[in-house]
Amino acid sequence: MTKRLLFIAFLASTICVRGSWAQAPATTETFTVHVDKKGPTINRDIFGQFAEHLGQGIYEGIWVGKDSAIPNTRGIRTDAVEALRAIRVPVVRWPGGCFADEYHWRKGVGPEQQRPTTINSLWGGVPEPNTFGTDEYMDFLNQIGAEAYVSINMGTGTPQEAAEWLEYMTALPPSSLAKERVANGHKEPYKIKYLGLGNESWGCGGPFTADDYVERMKLFNHFVHNFNPSQSSPSPFLPSPNPMKRVAVGPDAAKTEYTEAVMKAWGTRQPMDAFFWNVDGLSLHFYTFGGMPLSAPATDFSEKEYSKVLKETLNIEDIIAKHSSIMDKYDAQKKVALVVDEWGAWLKPMPGTNPAFLKQQNSLRDAILAALNLNIFIHHADRVRMANIAQMVNVIQSMILTDKEKMILTPTYYIYKMYVPFQDATLLAAELEPGEYKLGDVAMKRVDGVAARDKDGQVWLAVTNVDPNGPTDVHVNLDGISAKSATGQVLTADKVDSVNTFEASNVVVPKEFSAQAVNGNLTLHLPAKSVAVVRIQQ
Ligand code: AHR
Repeated sequence: MTKRLLFIAFLASTICVRGSWAQAPATTETFTVHVDKKGPTINRDIFGQFAEHLGQGIYEGIWVGKDSAIPNTRGIRTDAVEALRAIRVPVVRWPGGCFADEYHWRKGVGPEQQRPTTINSLWGGVPEPNTFGTDEYMDFLNQIGAEAYVSINMGTGTPQEAAEWLEYMTALPPSSLAKERVANGHKEPYKIKYLGLGNESWGCGGPFTADDYVERMKLFNHFVHNFNPSQSSPSPFLPSPNPMKRVAVGPDAAKTEYTEAVMKAWGTRQPMDAFFWNVDGLSLHFYTFGGMPLSAPATDFSEKEYSKVLKETLNIEDIIAKHSSIMDKYDAQKKVALVVDEWGAWLKPMPGTNPAFLKQQNSLRDAILAALNLNIFIHHADRVRMANIAQMVNVIQSMILTDKEKMILTPTYYIYKMYVPFQDATLLAAELEPGEYKLGDVAMKRVDGVAARDKDGQVWLAVTNVDPNGPTDVHVNLDGISAKSATGQVLTADKVDSVNTFEASNVVVPKEFSAQAVNGNLTLHLPAKSVAVVRIQQ
């Protein structure tokens, strides 16, 4: 080659990596999917949400009041309901969080004008009007088509208070509490799919050692009954048709004391005990902070911040594996689920907002973080059977941000929308050669992916390229089917810290995405910093 040609070749290769027409991938990965090797069902509750009385999470975010000029149905904002219906929210955890262990349900039922105003001591010391209570929560669930996950107060509450709350929600007349519910407008007993037995009893939920918690949990668990005839039999000694699932407080991230204590107590129950108390789920809380004290910015961050936060979030994989192996010791049949009922990126609050309200922006980076976490939950679907991102609206890593009458959907919202086909789908065995993304001393897999078959037999892939610097080609080898093409959506944006704002709400939105097959296999041309979800056409 002449010197001139060599120079042109060198120039071309340089431009191909960094230049604007440089969407030619410098890298390739391989994703081999075994369509006939079926794994566990991906419980749709993995895509669950969490809504706490915290900042604008409930008031303004969901509840605007019946007399509001903001369009609403019985006080619940219409725009939020429509958006949440579209992502098929399966379950909503409520009323907390920390708030749950200070919540007294009686203050939140009955005529609105007669409800007392209390103080939300945990989240800013602001007035809690109690206008959004049990019946409004159930109405909200009904409007968005989700199921209930109610956390009882095991901090400042008593077993009697919790038992009466359940009676109010689930009993039939002539129980006086059931009659009170009927008088408050709800004739039928509510269905409670999950019951949370306290929250973070190693932190805001009380200063309980793991052993002390177990004793307290057994007491509450023993006396709190669900009377809904569609869920429970009339006697603890008879099998129930569709029993409410009870979720005990479990670990704070990697700490194992609660996992050991709760699982040991459950695994060594005497046969008689099993009639009176049960644990169907163990809660795990894991937040991605990007440093402590809270220092990771939600906007205007560098690639260094980007890589650090994603690297940190991936720790949840080892944490889940660690707790699962302890659970396996006491529960080889995996009857007790690991319930990741608080997770997400907890970042610096939005400037100009009350820092106690935990309102933060949500960038493309957070959407990628959500996809990586969902993939991990999906890969552990045999044990992880519910997860609830913190939190649904206006708080931490939310789906929705509101400003009075305005509402925007976050990049994380779109991940939940794109992943809808994975709800209750069957995980497919797959192998990934993921490549590597490296910045300084931070290294992680460049590509991540999951494959599943939905109830209609369609095969879906979700594939993420975390590398912000270049596109990549993922060769998908399909063992068991021959593809013609794949179509779906891709989420990306100009920058890793691109966000949707009230002024520009469509900066990070999914776009159409497709791939043609060659010899039955596919190559997905993934843009830099992107998440794609596709359905395979055969
Ligand atoms: O999600 C915010 C808070 O984080 C919850 O109230 C608490 O459970 C956790 O510490």
